[in-house]
Amino acid sequence: MDTLIKQQKQAVKDTFPINGTDFIEFYVGNAKQSSIFYQAAFGFELVAYRGPETGSKETVSYVLQQGKVRLVLTSAFDPDHEILKHVHLHGDGVKVLALWVDDARDAYEKAVERGAESAFEPYTISDEDGEVVLSGIHTYGETIHTFVERNNYSGAFMPGFVSRKSIRKVEPVGLKYVDHCVGNVELGQMNRWIKFYQEVLGFKLLITFDDKDISTKYTALMSKVVSNGNGYIKFPINEPAKGLKKSQIEEYLDFYKSAGVQHIAVSTDNIIETVSKLRENGVEFLYVPDNYYEDLLDRVGDIDESIEDLKGQNILVDRDNEGYLLQIFTKPVQDRPTVFYEIIQRKGAQSFGKGNFKALFEAIEREQELRGTL
Ligand code: FE2
Repeated sequence: MDTLIKQQKQAVKDTFPINGTDFIEFYVGNAKQSSIFYQAAFGFELVAYRGPETGSKETVSYVLQQGKVRLVLTSAFDPDHEILKHVHLHGDGVKVLALWVDDARDAYEKAVERGAESAFEPYTISDEDGEVVLSGIHTYGETIHTFVERNNYSGAFMPGFVSRKSIRKVEPVGLKYVDHCVGNVELGQMNRWIKFYQEVLGFKLLITFDDKDISTKYTALMSKVVSNGNGYIKFPINEPAKGLKKSQIEEYLDFYKSAGVQHIAVSTDNIIETVSKLRENGVEFLYVPDNYYEDLLDRVGDIDESIEDLKGQNILVDRDNEGYLLQIFTKPVQDRPTVFYEIIQRKGAQSFGKGNFKALFEAIEREQELRGTL
């Protein structure tokens, strides 16, 4: 019997413990101005800074926070610096999905042993507020995962950064934490990356969507979702599928020039309030026609929100066995049609809004049509 219990315990043992998302770092052309955008439009608070004044002669970073969501906006000065080369090729985009672990050396060694490609070896940085250990591995495109170990670090972000506050008062919009981060990969590469997350980081396959689940009249894509042991990290991976016209994934790949992060879904406890504040701040959302709401209650059953409020903010609803969710997509947040945000409120549902895929993808196609990229 002991053996049985032991085996069962082993079966549920998390082979790659990750506490959660530590930060998401964008490489951008102008970090100073991007930081103003995230403060004014998304209600993020400036919390830390690193630049020439603090001893960083080549790069500049602004750290923004709202709830548990932490964004780092980084740029550089020399056109030959790898950060500006990255920006030149991809436009503003996500470089780092940082994962918070208890032991960044162990995580790195395990990952590399299991086949990950090293991005940088573990190193420790420290100041009077404590120490942080960092290591990194490559994932799809030029994106990397940084493992962050914080040994009771009490400073603003990490050694090298100084505490910095927003100059203007910032109104938070109710963003709580990162729900999921989606990657777009090239045709035929989805399974390779799903396998990578399963084999290297010990993630489990949560859901598979084929092109029948995610297709409109014109375009299609396939998607699989993996999740880590505690379920806090969810990475859907998309690849384009054959359709009559160019899919949004192909458009992304054409503009980003490689695989990369497509969208970051951030959770809120009150999506109607969050979205209305974001709209007041100038954030643009995808438009779904009013007829979406005509038979909504037949499709999703009773919900706490009023249809008028949802329609007023153009918020979508979907139900699964465990409950329902509310969601909306922003338009891309930089000039290229690449990275965008999803705002999501879960009321029991643990899925991704399959019932809304068609409406959302038709909305994206209308935008593609306007851009001339459908
Ligand atoms: Fe999503």
